[in-house]
Amino acid sequence: MRNFASDNYATALPEALEAIAAANHGPAVSYGADDWTARLQERVREHFGAAAVAFPVFNGTGANIVGLRSMLKPWQGVICAATAHLNVDEGGAPEVLGGIKLLTVPTPDGKLTPELVDRRMVRIGDEHASQPGVVSITQSTELGTVYTPAEMAAIGEHAHAHGMLFHVDGSRLANAAASLDVPLRAIATDVGADVVSFGGTKVGLVAGEAVIVLRDDLTDPVRYLRKQTVQLASKMRFISAQLEALLTGDLWRRAAGHANAMARRLGEAVEGLDGIRLTQAVQANGVFAILPEGAAERLQEDFHFYFWEEHTREVRWMCAWDTREEDVDAFAAAISQLVGSLA
Ligand SMILES: Cc1ncc(COP(=O)(O)O)c(C=O)c1O
Repeated sequence: MRNFASDNYATALPEALEAIAAANHGPAVSYGADDWTARLQERVREHFGAAAVAFPVFNGTGANIVGLRSMLKPWQGVICAATAHLNVDEGGAPEVLGGIKLLTVPTPDGKLTPELVDRRMVRIGDEHASQPGVVSITQSTELGTVYTPAEMAAIGEHAHAHGMLFHVDGSRLANAAASLDVPLRAIATDVGADVVSFGGTKVGLVAGEAVIVLRDDLTDPVRYLRKQTVQLASKMRFISAQLEALLTGDLWRRAAGHANAMARRLGEAVEGLDGIRLTQAVQANGVFAILPEGAAERLQEDFHFYFWEEHTREVRWMCAWDTREEDVDAFAAAISQLVGSLA
């Protein structure tokens, strides 16, 4: 299979599998009171600062719901981009499991700004309306774009100035940090994030994400809510061991940087071809494009990828830590040949 469908199609990093195997000796205390989880906390403090506390969870949807539940009062909602994974790809889980009202805003590129946040800062004090309690952004975004640290800091400041908390869905935080060539904390702790959903799976773990809490008063709520939201792993050492491996040395940056480089290679190879329009800047590990009628379906006979937007016929091509240059080149050549023949 030649995969440009999703970074979730990718194999697991050998280091993740080795970490699982290395953790597979003898009994260990369950539910996170194990040595691997303790060491993970040290790594997380190195990357996110002394106040950071990690709560490993099974998946990204769970990370988002646990984090957001801890940040909201029952009458409050979450301002997010209309394209946020929270809104369009979690099957209504935030609403059903978390009772969370999403206050969505259309954006051109998946990115909120303070001005866009203000569109939902309405009816403040009106008991008939959900009150905005959190601003949630995705870094890197669902559209493969990346916020600069300054853009994130402006949103964080704006949220705090209006009495809201700042959440980052960092399912692909590693891709964003690799793209910007900054440490993880530069797009989390240093920009005022209160809670980050830190992704491990898309960058190469078998399974493993973490709710990273950067405010003291939220650690206790997250501890209870993780269990209540069915995200507390009994054999947590195997999740923590993978996250520990990812955050040791530069594994996260190497894996994410490679995925980004492959997307850039693909974007550069097809940009400017007659009949193709890239719809977003290629800043992380995804390429978004509109092709001539019928071209995507023909390509899908040999390559796996999804339509992103059925109405506009926009497609999404994702790269992962294990995408090979030769696969990118073969895909780019197939695209070029096909659109050339349709022109
Ligand atoms: C931006 C973003 N957030 C969260 C998730 C949720 O991840 P999971 O499928 O592990 O629940 C995804 C997965 O595609 C995602 O792309």
